[in-house]
Amino acid sequence: MSGPVQNRRVLSGMRPTGELHLGNYHGALKNWIELQYQFECYFFIADWHALTTGYADTSRLEEHVWSMAIDWLAAGLNPSVATLFIQSKVPEHAELHLLLSMITPLGWLERVPSYKDQQEQLADRDLGTYGFLGYPLLQSADILLYRAEFVPVGEDQVAHVEITREVARRFNHIYGREAEFEQKVEKAIKSLGSRNAALYRSLRKEFQEKGVTEALAKARALVESNARLTVADRDRLFGFLEGTGIAILPEPDALLTATPKVPGLDGRKMSKSYGNTIGLREDADSIVRKLKTMQTDPARVRRSDPGDPDKCPVWDLHKLYSSEETRAWVQSGCRSAAIGCLECKAPLIEKIVAEVSAISKRAAEFEENPELVRGIIAEGCERARAAARDTLDAVRQAMAMNYR
Ligand code: TRP
Ligand code: SF4
Repeated sequence: MSGPVQNRRVLSGMRPTGELHLGNYHGALKNWIELQYQFECYFFIADWHALTTGYADTSRLEEHVWSMAIDWLAAGLNPSVATLFIQSKVPEHAELHLLLSMITPLGWLERVPSYKDQQEQLADRDLGTYGFLGYPLLQSADILLYRAEFVPVGEDQVAHVEITREVARRFNHIYGREAEFEQKVEKAIKSLGSRNAALYRSLRKEFQEKGVTEALAKARALVESNARLTVADRDRLFGFLEGTGIAILPEPDALLTATPKVPGLDGRKMSKSYGNTIGLREDADSIVRKLKTMQTDPARVRRSDPGDPDKCPVWDLHKLYSSEETRAWVQSGCRSAAIGCLECKAPLIEKIVAEVSAISKRAAEFEENPELVRGIIAEGCERARAAARDTLDAVRQAMAMNYR
C-alpha cells in the first residue's frame, strides 16, 4: 500500500489568535506537515474555541480565521492530502457537543487543570461562563466526531485528550449495549468474507492476548476499508476488538511530539502574550533588528567576557536551525570569547530570514487570491462534514434517535 496509512485518522485544531509565529511553526505546524503524509489528517481552525475566552470582542475573529488559513497553507499544509476546515462551518461539532454534555458529569470538567489555571491567568475576563467550563468537552466532541485515532497536541492539552477518552468510554458504556451482540458480531465477521474474517479474528486475538496495538490498528483498518459494511456492523466490529460491546466512539490517543523549546526574544517561551515573537510573515529588516537585540547570556557584558550557551536563548535557536558544525563553532567561540554575540547570531539571522521570507512569499500569493483560499477551505469543510455526518448517524442510531 502506498500513500497515507489507510483510514488512520489524526485530528488537531488551533485557535485563530492572529498571525502565527515561529513558536507555533516549530511547536505544532511542522509536525502537522509531516503527519499529513502519514495519516488521514483533519486540521481545523477552532473559531468556537476562540469564543470560550474571547467572546467579548469578536471584531477581528474573521480576519484571524483567514490569516490562519493562509499561514497554514504558506507553511506547507497541503489541502490535497489533508482536510483543512473551520470548526463553525461544520455544525455537527455543536450537535455532538450537546449530546455529550448530557452524559458528562460536571466534576469531570471542573477538575480539568486548565479550568482554574486559565481563570487565574485571564483574571481580567469573566470566565465564569457555561461555555468556558464546557470547553474541554467541545474539544472532546471535535475529536470524537472524526473518530480520530491520534491527536497531536502539546503537553498542556494532554488532559483534554484524557477527558475525551473518559467521555468516549462512558458513551460507549451507556449506548453501546445491545441484545444479542455476540450473534450480530459473528454475522458481521462472516460478512467480511472468509479470508478477511480469519485475518480479523487472528488480529483480535493478537491484540487481546498479547496487547499488540499494531494488531488493533491493522484490524481497525481492515474494518474501515470494507465499504460494504453497514455503519452498525462496522461499530460492532470495532467494539468487539477491544471489548464486548459496540464502540461507537473509539478512544483517541494523544500524539505527544517532542516539541523543541522555541525561545522568544526575551528568553522566555515564544508566545503572543509575552510580545516576544517573530512572526511567520515578518519582514526581513524587522527580523534582523529583533535578533540583533535578542537576549543573550547576561554574563557576557563585554566582548571579552566568556559565555555559556546553556544560559543563552540564542543557543536554543541554534539547536533548531544550525548544523553540527556551526553549533560546535558557537560552543567553543562563546566559551572562549573568541566570537562576539553578533557574530554568533549572524548564521542564525540568515537561516531565519530565509525561512520566513519563503513562507511570506507563499503567503503573499494566497493573500492576493482570497477566492482560492476560500475555495480550499470550503472544500475542506465539505469533506469534514461528510465524515462528521457519518459519525453522527452512528451516534443517533446508538441513542435510538435516528427517527426521521
Ligand atoms: N484546545 C486547543 C488549544 O487551545 C485547540 C483545539 C480545539 C484542539 N479542539 C481541538 C486541539 C481538538 C486538538 C484536538 O490549543
Ligand atoms: Fe549566546 Fe552566542 Fe553570545 Fe554565546 S556567543 S552568549 S551563545 S549569543
